[in-house]
Amino acid sequence: MAKYRIAWLPGDGIGVEVMAATRIVLDRLDFAAEYVHGDIGWEFWRTEGDAFPARTIELLKSVDAALFGAITSKPAKAAEAELLPELRGKGVQYRSPIVRMRQLFDLWNCLRPIKAYPGNPLNYKEGIDLVVFRENTEDLYAGVEFSPVPQAVSATLAATSKNFAPFAGLGADEYAVSCKINTRRGSERIVRAAFEFAQQNGRKKVTVVHKANVVRATDGMFLEIAREVAQGYPGIQQDEANIDAMTMWLLKNPFNYDVLVAPNLYGDIISDLCAQMVGGLGFGCSGNIGDNLAVFEPTHGSAPKYAGQNKVNPIATILAAKMMLEWLGEKPRAAALEAATAAVIAEGRVRTYDMGGSATTRQMAEAIAARL
Ligand code: IPM
Ligand code: MG
Repeated sequence: MAKYRIAWLPGDGIGVEVMAATRIVLDRLDFAAEYVHGDIGWEFWRTEGDAFPARTIELLKSVDAALFGAITSKPAKAAEAELLPELRGKGVQYRSPIVRMRQLFDLWNCLRPIKAYPGNPLNYKEGIDLVVFRENTEDLYAGVEFSPVPQAVSATLAATSKNFAPFAGLGADEYAVSCKINTRRGSERIVRAAFEFAQQNGRKKVTVVHKANVVRATDGMFLEIAREVAQGYPGIQQDEANIDAMTMWLLKNPFNYDVLVAPNLYGDIISDLCAQMVGGLGFGCSGNIGDNLAVFEPTHGSAPKYAGQNKVNPIATILAAKMMLEWLGEKPRAAALEAATAAVIAEGRVRTYDMGGSATTRQMAEAIAARL
């Protein structure tokens, strides 16, 4: 009997290949799981007007965890143009499935370990070992947006904010509004998760990334809550940095940092910067973790130009699977998988094109599986 039920969501583009490669490795681990395929991705947008169909949402309600590949997404007009003719003009709107999934299942903690595996030729510096905690359901990702701006919204803004004056005379389609919405609860739980992690893993410092000097209401609240939470962890240094300065300092001295915590959009931005320091998108892995469900994924997108070529690096997805094992409590298997991956990287014989080699996606997975 399988111990775990795992939703298997390859998506599209290179998502399909990196997931197939990851399965080779998982199968070698003798991990008692039943993998249930879920439809998700561009094909379902085109043919059904929904890239994340209701049946896949139902599937996610019945699993212990999910592994997700990648999905193509396009701006609104381009997306509409690819719909089957009978679906066009019906008002269906494309929204990123992963963003919807995070919100629907309250996967509030986006956990992104940033580790330079020794010998990776793409490491910016050897020894980098950071962990990003990104709030995953709120902020500018709330999806509360207006374009054109309804009269009721502009009237309310005019009546309640004097800073709205320069915009008050604009026509509804002369501007657009995206709301940055942050809650006390959402901010508190992500900051607490970062401090808890630091405490449990012998980390010394948590840096709170913000822009509270300008974005006073939301980031001001985030920072204030972070300071309160930090008081409960006297053994851990609490540090603060503006998002813009952070991008400079991180590059200048990554060793000054340890655990980073940020609201959604800043977390998104530093995630890519951090991933690039340890090998780029072929190495960035991610967990979207809620109280009842967690979905693990590589940080990269669907890279349509590489799709079907068996060329891209599957390590990001393999490391996402390692995070999934950890989350399920399968610590020895997770450790074995990480050690096998690290060994293949250190040895340097099997390298995909991004690492300067010519190994295929599949060969990389097979090399890691052979070490298990
Ligand atoms: C990420 C990605 C997503 C995000 C995209 C694909 C919607 O960039 O997981 O970091 O913005 O969160
Ligand atoms: Mg991103």
